[in-house]
Amino acid sequence: MMRPRVLSAAAIAAVTVVGLAVLPNGAATAGDTGLRAAARGTGVKIGTAVNMDALATDAPYAAAGAREFNTVTPENVMKWEVVEPTQGHYDWTQADKLVDVARRNGQAVRGHTLVWHSQLPSWINETDFTPAQLRDLLRRHIFAEMGHFKGRIWAWDVVNEAFNEDGTLRDTIWLRNLGPGYIADAFRWAHQADPSAILFLNDYNVEWIGPKSTAEYNLIKDLRRQGVPVQGFGMQGHLGIQYGLPGDVLENVRRFDALGVKTAFTEVDIRMILPDDQIKTQAQAEGFGLLLRACLLVRHCISYTVWGFTDKYSWVPGVFSGEGSATPMTEDYQKKPAYDTLKETFQLAS
Ligand code: XIL
Repeated sequence: MMRPRVLSAAAIAAVTVVGLAVLPNGAATAGDTGLRAAARGTGVKIGTAVNMDALATDAPYAAAGAREFNTVTPENVMKWEVVEPTQGHYDWTQADKLVDVARRNGQAVRGHTLVWHSQLPSWINETDFTPAQLRDLLRRHIFAEMGHFKGRIWAWDVVNEAFNEDGTLRDTIWLRNLGPGYIADAFRWAHQADPSAILFLNDYNVEWIGPKSTAEYNLIKDLRRQGVPVQGFGMQGHLGIQYGLPGDVLENVRRFDALGVKTAFTEVDIRMILPDDQIKTQAQAEGFGLLLRACLLVRHCISYTVWGFTDKYSWVPGVFSGEGSATPMTEDYQKKPAYDTLKETFQLAS
């Protein structure tokens, strides 16, 4: 095994327990040859974002989700706008469902996401709260949500997308009203709310070394020096082949690894300008493999999550005009070279 990782007996046992995929109807799939089987024994979990509408209505989607992945991330249903649509009235229905399905499938849950500038409930933006009130609201939100799921979430994206491309802090309602200390506060509150969850700082365009990833590196280093419980760095991994692949991703992940924090690829999809063709599809496969190898080659990278596994439900075409085909499976669940590359890479590592 190439990976410089020592698997403890407990880790091996844990891997064995989740090794059998259980379908939503309770049937176990013996002789499973999907990604989660390939990932077994590597120390890296393989995950997907889950679309709750698809899960409820599309049986092949639910079956593939259970077969291929041993960790899941709610694509939307743990976001603040969903869980507290009106102030003080929580709605955990969809998020509870996701956590329940994950438990039945033997999948760890990545909670996503507590502190973000986007997908906030409209009552937050529309009410004239004072800075003190906003600080209180954020604290309550973290305690309410993490408290609700206490002990059932493996890792939380505590703070999401806090930086600009130039490495300065993003101008958000939190920075404007609470000042830069909101990040440390959020991690402290999160650790109090659920001490067993691994707490992540998460962002995009941080797969390579540049002003943004370096700013996050420096922040994590500073916070840890002060004893703030930031325990992981998540790289979303929303790439586009037309921009080139991040050749220095391993070097980048290694410097975070050396800080002693966990790392993860949290939302990998690799889009292209449509229509797709063989060259683009192959470049995409190389991108998926490049990120996975970086994860497998460091000690503390714990998971690799794709932001949807089929183009059928991908967020990409709706947001990046003219682009798509960003996931490892086509709309009708045909495996692309990206899928095969992920599987073969895991197999080589285990
Ligand atoms: C996206 C979802 O995929 C969409 O369904 C939703 O409309 C918008 O958010 N970074 C993140 C994710 O951290 O939460 C985003 O998810 C994609 C970018």
